[in-house]
Amino acid sequence: MASDKLITELNQLLSDFHIYYQNTRGFHWNIKGKRFFELHMKFEELYNTALENIDEIAERILTIKGQPLHSFQSYLDTSNVKAKTNMSHDEEIVSSLLEQLGQLVKQENVVKELATSEDDTETEDMMIALINSQEKTMWMFRSWMG
Ligand SMILES: [Fe+2]
Repeated sequence: MASDKLITELNQLLSDFHIYYQNTRGFHWNIKGKRFFELHMKFEELYNTALENIDEIAERILTIKGQPLHSFQSYLDTSNVKAKTNMSHDEEIVSSLLEQLGQLVKQENVVKELATSEDDTETEDMMIALINSQEKTMWMFRSWMG
C-alpha cells in the first residue's frame, strides 16, 4: 500500500510536469531567430514526450490507489515549475528549459527515494527512466549552448 506521502510527491511531479508542458508549447509557438526551425521542432518533441509522461504518472497514481490532480487551478497552486510567458530568445529559452528539467529531475529523485523505501519497484523504475531521459536531454541542451 502506497503512503499518502508518495501519492502527494507524485502529484507534485504531475503538477510540475503540466506547467513544464505548457511552457514548452509556448516556446514552440514563440521561438524566434535563425534557429527557429530546429528549435520549433525540438520543443514539439519535448511537449509530446511530456504529454505521454503526464499520462503515465497520473495512471500510476491511480494504480496505487491515489487521486491525480486534474484541474489547471490545482497545477498552478502546487507546481514548483513556474509558468513562463513571452519568451522568444533561443538561448534564454534553452537555459530556462535546463532549469525546468533540473526541477523535474529533482522531484523525480524525491519520488524515487520514497518509492524505494516503500518497495514500490514500478514507481522507482518509472522515475529512473524519466531521470535518465531528461538528464540526456539536459546534456544535449548544454552542448547546444556551447
Ligand atoms: Fe505546432
